[in-house]
Amino acid sequence: MRPHLSRRNCVVASGTLAIAIGALCVACGNDHEKKSAGSGRPAPAAPGDRPAAVAGASATQSVQAAAACTDCHRTLHPELVRAHEAGPHAGKASCAACHGTDHAAIFSTDGEVSSARCGTCHARRYAEFRRSKHGRLLRQGAMAETLVAHAAAVGGCQATNGCHDVQRPNADGSVGRCASCHASHAATAGVAADPAICARCHSGPDHPQTAAWANDKHGVLWKQDPRSGIAPSCATCHMPANTHDDGAGLTASVVARPGRRAPTLVPALSREAHATARAAMVEVCAKCHGTRLAKATLAAADEARFDALLLCEEAAQIVRDLDAEGLLVPAPKDRPKNPVSEGGLALGGRQIYDAHSSRAERLFYDLFMFEFPGLWKAAYHTDPNLIRWTEREKMKTRLVELRAEAERLRSATRPPK
Ligand code: HEC
Ligand code: HEC
Ligand code: HEC
Ligand code: HEC
Ligand code: HEC
Ligand code: HEC
Ligand code: HEC
Repeated sequence: MRPHLSRRNCVVASGTLAIAIGALCVACGNDHEKKSAGSGRPAPAAPGDRPAAVAGASATQSVQAAAACTDCHRTLHPELVRAHEAGPHAGKASCAACHGTDHAAIFSTDGEVSSARCGTCHARRYAEFRRSKHGRLLRQGAMAETLVAHAAAVGGCQATNGCHDVQRPNADGSVGRCASCHASHAATAGVAADPAICARCHSGPDHPQTAAWANDKHGVLWKQDPRSGIAPSCATCHMPANTHDDGAGLTASVVARPGRRAPTLVPALSREAHATARAAMVEVCAKCHGTRLAKATLAAADEARFDALLLCEEAAQIVRDLDAEGLLVPAPKDRPKNPVSEGGLALGGRQIYDAHSSRAERLFYDLFMFEFPGLWKAAYHTDPNLIRWTEREKMKTRLVELRAEAERLRSATRPPK
């Protein structure tokens, strides 16, 4: 993973273009002065690894004109420059407007363009983006601690083209990468409007929003005619009126219910917070539906989510009891320390992707981290099969397995009759 946080002090300078690269562009024709990069990053590759136009040259140089960016880069990667010149920013934002003019700084950040940089011209989108989880650090989300521990274990989640690069910390202190959805240089809005872009990250067993949407009438109709506007894409519901706050209209948790078991695994939401978010989402549906259908559909999804959570609560209690009886092997205290818990048993959002767990904890993990979100996320995206059949049956199977595991552990410690 790139050491983002250690680059906080890196400032992209403007003014003089100070090129300090192990290559020389034959097209520039400016005076060249020797300068050291001073960026901590080694000169990029040996001359032999460079494209033909610059191979063999090892001088560093300083160039005054921003037009030089295009001239030199055209010889390096002509299609990239052509994409820029054919794209929406041609004549509106130069290479330097997004990248700055200090080539040493460009290299020290791997060419990073921060959301704040885009925000200098797109202030409204930037402000909205920062309100949603897309524009907030990974460690500020609901399951954040677990995700951070996971990211540290597997690496690369926030590297370019990782699912969390949209939330990455930038060298200038801002958060987020607009280019996670937009193309860096080509016609960029159209790319972002295609659900296939959202699907890069919003798919898989623990967040099957794309599969659910595609399997539902909404996705089927959208694919038949993406331009008609008759059926909703992801952005229709999550970025209504072109907002970049994707969190708008999400209730994001369950409301405790009188007479039902209180949830311990997720924080409960207040009735008021639920009502406010729900009203915003119903307004989106109401462009195409009557409010009765919209409200009933979303209330059914709330109910499916709550019911599924109760199965998880039942499973959690089985694991807690086994822990209290000293039957979890290896016991939490005998394993490498969970970096986000105080030691001891950690369930729910604090349980980590762990290869050292006991079998009972792992069964619970699969239930809570994959099957439960699989079910409730499918429920809001109205996939009839995933909600009513596939995911629910998987959850019940897992609960049966967990009960059998508890019975096996207990019978192994019972004295023979
Ligand atoms: C509208 C802003 C914008 C403009 C204008 C722009 N770029 Fe970029 N460029 C980006 C973004 C965004 C990235 C991805 C950087 C990141 O990961 O943060 C990028 C990445 C790059 C990269 C590295 C990625 C790769 O594919 O190798 C190069 C090289 C590059 N730009 C060159 C240029 C050149 C040359 C120009 C002018 C012709 C230019 N850019 C104009 C936004 C811009
Ligand atoms: C003298 C030639 C030359 C000029 C002028 C030049 N660059 Fe570069 N630039 C390079 C070379 C060489 C690379 C490395 C390309 C590679 O890795 O294939 C590079 C890489 C980059 C990258 C990608 C960095 C990365 O880590 O992926 C960006 C962004 C970039 N330049 C922007 C600019 C901008 C903006 C300007 C004008 C202000 C500019 N360049 C002017 C030669 C030049
Ligand atoms: C120097 C100012 C400037 C910067 C920096 C800038 N843009 Fe733009 N951008 C513009 C202008 C001007 C337009 C054209 C607006 C219009 O036509 O209404 C535009 C248009 C766009 C569009 C609409 C294009 C379309 O296809 O309709 C998108 C999307 C966009 N920019 C995204 C970005 C992103 C992402 C970044 C950062 C990587 C960025 N911009 C950086 C000025 C800028
Ligand atoms: C989650 C994906 C996503 C991210 C991240 C994102 N955008 Fe967008 N953006 C979109 C979508 C979707 C559209 C709408 C495209 C359409 O309807 O044609 C859009 C449209 C735009 C437009 C054009 C609006 C118009 O009126 O046509 C601009 C400008 C823009 N985005 C800038 C940004 C900037 C700046 C950032 C970062 C601060 C950013 N976007 C981050 C998905 C995203
Ligand atoms: C018909 C409207 C609609 C469409 C289309 C739609 N969603 Fe959703 N989405 C919802 C609703 C409703 C919720 C749950 C709201 C709540 O929490 O109360 C939701 C929740 C979400 C969440 C947050 C919950 C979570 O999983 O963490 C994400 C992410 C998401 N949707 C992504 C997508 C993606 C990606 C697409 C396209 C493949 C998409 N949605 C299409 C209505 C929609
Ligand atoms: C590069 C990966 C990536 C792409 C592309 C992407 N997302 Fe996300 N999305 C994320 C991540 C990561 C989160 C935050 C997860 C967390 O912190 O719990 C998120 C969160 C969300 C949320 C919940 C927002 C909130 O504030 O609670 C919605 C809704 C959403 N995305 C919709 C979309 C839509 C619609 C698109 C396409 C236009 C899209 N995303 C594209 C990675 C992505
Ligand atoms: C852009 C328009 C649009 C939006 C926004 C939209 N839908 Fe739909 N929806 C449709 C269309 C079109 C159909 C297919 C209607 C049909 O079968 O005749 C559909 C079908 C449905 C169905 C299946 C109905 C049936 O009779 O089989 C449900 C349930 C549904 N939508 C719920 C929602 C909910 C909930 C929201 C908001 C979160 C929403 N829709 C937002 C266009 C939309």
